[in-house]
Amino acid sequence: MTSYAVPNIAPHQISLDASAGSLTPSGSTLIRRLSDLAGCFENSKVFKAEFASSNPIVYQVISSAVPEVPRELPQSITTIFPGSCGGELYMTKGHQHPDPQGEIYFGLEGIGGIIMFDGKEKKYVEITSGTIGYIPPGWAHRSINSGSTAYKFLAVYPGSAGHDYGWVLENGMGLRRFSESGKLILKDFII
Ligand code: F6R
Ligand code: ZN
Repeated sequence: MTSYAVPNIAPHQISLDASAGSLTPSGSTLIRRLSDLAGCFENSKVFKAEFASSNPIVYQVISSAVPEVPRELPQSITTIFPGSCGGELYMTKGHQHPDPQGEIYFGLEGIGGIIMFDGKEKKYVEITSGTIGYIPPGWAHRSINSGSTAYKFLAVYPGSAGHDYGWVLENGMGLRRFSESGKLILKDFII
């Protein structure tokens, strides 16, 4: 039998529970609260006031047991809860893969989108249940929830990709997604 990960990963079935946003067998669970998103929202005054008063959970990421190591293909389900901060929709931190590798997101429940930025060009791709969003190598990506219920998606990505969060803080994300007077709008990301 070939072996790439340590410990060795055998062929196996993974159960996906879309309503729980979970994968079994599971690996790690990551919870991100508003205070973990420092530097992400445009309105830093509202951001500070809101996390000082309630500090809600913005999103969680439940991973399968497949590890993030070269040649393996890990998966995770991200659940972004509905909400906004200063009108800007709840979002993930956003990252660039230091080892430029593509990734797919498969929409499970709710309505959301992916903001993508390669340092010059910017794109917004809407994701609903059953839609696949393709993130090409070299594009930083951030997800947002644009609905009134939890938005959930499955991510599948190469184990060597890695996550560079500093890139986004330095270069921005190209676009921001707001809800203003009941309308969803995209705004340029000003650094
Ligand atoms: C993995 C990936 C997703 C995100 C997750 C949380 O490469 O893109 O699994 O890691 O949606 O977003 P971040 O990592 O930006 O906090
Ligand atoms: Zn990624």
